[in-house]
Amino acid sequence: MDSALQGKTALITGASRGIGRAIALKLASLGCDIAIHYRKNLEEAQGLETELKSRFGVSVSKFAADLSEIGEIHRFIEEVKAAHSKLDIFVANAAATAFKPLAEIREHHIAKTLNITVTTFILAMNAFKPIMPPGSKVITVSGIDTKKYCFNHGLLAAAKSALETLTRYYAVESAPEKIFVHGVNPGLVDTDSLKVYFGSSYEEAKAEMSKLTPMGRLMPTSDVAEMVAFLCSRAADWMNGETLYADGGAGFLMPVFSQK
Ligand SMILES: NC(=O)c1ccc[n+]([C@@H]2O[C@H](COP(=O)([O-])OP(=O)(O)OC[C@H]3O[C@@H](n4cnc5c(N)ncnc54)[C@H](OP(=O)(O)O)[C@@H]3O)[C@@H](O)[C@H]2O)c1
Repeated sequence: MDSALQGKTALITGASRGIGRAIALKLASLGCDIAIHYRKNLEEAQGLETELKSRFGVSVSKFAADLSEIGEIHRFIEEVKAAHSKLDIFVANAAATAFKPLAEIREHHIAKTLNITVTTFILAMNAFKPIMPPGSKVITVSGIDTKKYCFNHGLLAAAKSALETLTRYYAVESAPEKIFVHGVNPGLVDTDSLKVYFGSSYEEAKAEMSKLTPMGRLMPTSDVAEMVAFLCSRAADWMNGETLYADGGAGFLMPVFSQK
């Protein structure tokens, strides 16, 4: 086992499913104790806890909080601080939104989307920085919608663009404490959120989206986790403030000229 992360503690928001779950498994495989955040899916969180303990022998703590609510953000932060006197890695992964055209967006959609992605990140960073030792890593998870127009993604894309900006700003403002802040912007990843987004046309959409990448498939969650593990390593220190963009080459393809 690569013991570089042995004895470190990683908090991952939205870890019960999808990308967050894959990140928890990867960091645990490198020796990290894991703090799982989830919204309400206790069964999935418990399943992950059992798997992390039995496969990797790491310690696990769990925190449930709906981060779209300000009061819940504060409770979550206080509970994490009460349970952990030290955090070495903080992965801001959780996200949710109302997938709608911008013309149909209402005030509460804006508040909830920004609360999860932006407000939580700022309040958590400010609360956790004092318990993050020098060399700690913060990883934000952005989305392809900041780079490409995705139907009904306008609000989430705006929140993620803010998150990428905050990644750069916190990298500068956390440098005196030697805390590194990185981002990852994966391409299309096959998770529950794609199923929610596409509904009954999920399989058809997945087949179409797969054609849009040179490798003819979507990115597996485990590949996103590999990128996060790299960013958590010392090798990535000088990428401070950067959001790593990984779409498998999809963005380079010119639609008509790239058809096989
Ligand atoms: N899937 C993609 O194609 C893709 C591509 C690029 C970037 N991303 C980004 O990657 C991250 C993870 O996406 P995913 O596809 O893995 O998501 P997912 O499978 O839908 O999982 C969402 C996670 O976030 C939690 N969550 C949902 N609503 C929440 C709320 N109101 N407050 C707090 N936590 C909440 C869920 O908890 P429960 O299980 O308790 O509901 C779950 O752990 C997101 O930031 C997403 O924008 C995804």
